[in-house]
Amino acid sequence: MILLTGAAGAVGRALLRRLVDGDEPVRCLVRDPRRLGAERVRVQIALGDLADPGAHRNAMRGVRLVVHLAASMRDQPGATIEEINAVATLRLVRAAERAGVERFVYCSCLGASEHSTSRLMRAKALAERVVEQAAVPSVVVAPSMIYAPENRWLRFLDRASAVLPAVPLVGAGRARSEPIFSDDVAACLAALVADRPAPGGSRVELAGPDVLTFAEVLELAMAGRGRRRPVLAVPRPVAVALLRAAEGLLGVGTPVTEDEAALVGVSMLAREGTSHAEALGVRPLAMAEVLGPA
Ligand SMILES: NC(=O)c1ccc[n+]([C@@H]2O[C@H](COP(=O)([O-])OP(=O)(O)OC[C@H]3O[C@@H](n4cnc5c(N)ncnc54)[C@H](OP(=O)(O)O)[C@@H]3O)[C@@H](O)[C@H]2O)c1
Repeated sequence: MILLTGAAGAVGRALLRRLVDGDEPVRCLVRDPRRLGAERVRVQIALGDLADPGAHRNAMRGVRLVVHLAASMRDQPGATIEEINAVATLRLVRAAERAGVERFVYCSCLGASEHSTSRLMRAKALAERVVEQAAVPSVVVAPSMIYAPENRWLRFLDRASAVLPAVPLVGAGRARSEPIFSDDVAACLAALVADRPAPGGSRVELAGPDVLTFAEVLELAMAGRGRRRPVLAVPRPVAVALLRAAEGLLGVGTPVTEDEAALVGVSMLAREGTSHAEALGVRPLAMAEVLGPA
């Protein structure tokens, strides 16, 4: 039995499509099974919230391998970024150890660091440490920026570029990443699930072939949608004041939180570029191949 968390997310959906075609049964820990779409009838459902320790115990029965993708870039009504990403991972790892799970695959992020300015990156770094020190054999998979044509931030970019003469960016957006398509991340994870050896030992770094600043990512994504708007660098203190005001007014409905905006300043570069993905049998696509030509 494979336990998958985050199955309704961008990577999770792409991975689930692959796993349900395999021989091993799959159980998904989800808050709302309807979010799994058609695949929900092909899997076992463990209904629960990551922030609820009871859900972990029930989900773990008879599990051989855990793929833990669920994460949140913002606080949720019942739990903070730190509780969902770090504390819940600790609880899931402990539950896996108690249940005698054979392998724990954790999806972190390139750029995760306990010293990061981003709360998400600090929480992910703590989670990585827990997974690395676990009694259960584990692999940390650290992708660069992940994108999919239906991504929330690409939809937001669509709306913003439709009504604004320029697309605002927090700071200069000079930090670089190697964006990787969600399907390519899923294909790499599927190879690990199929017991292909992890190319980096216990740490697999996943990157796409382009090395881009965030401003370049925005330009490429807009070009793929047939739009050209200049990217306007908003000085960080001004942007932070505006984002806090929007969060105060709109609450959880705010389009971008302060911490999400902080991610624009985090470099997400793999030490060996695309080589880990290739060792897992995946040639990651360039952004223009997925989103359309520049
Ligand atoms: N996106 C990126 O650029 C990026 C870059 C590097 C690494 N990563 C990591 O890659 C992994 C997959 O990313 P993704 O883009 O596929 O994420 P995503 O689309 O944001 O999906 C997140 C998933 O986590 C689930 N989740 C969130 N809070 C939960 C909770 N309290 N209880 C149970 N489930 C919860 C969501 O469930 P619902 O459907 O119920 O909301 C959703 O299925 C994550 O670990 C992420 O941190 C992402």
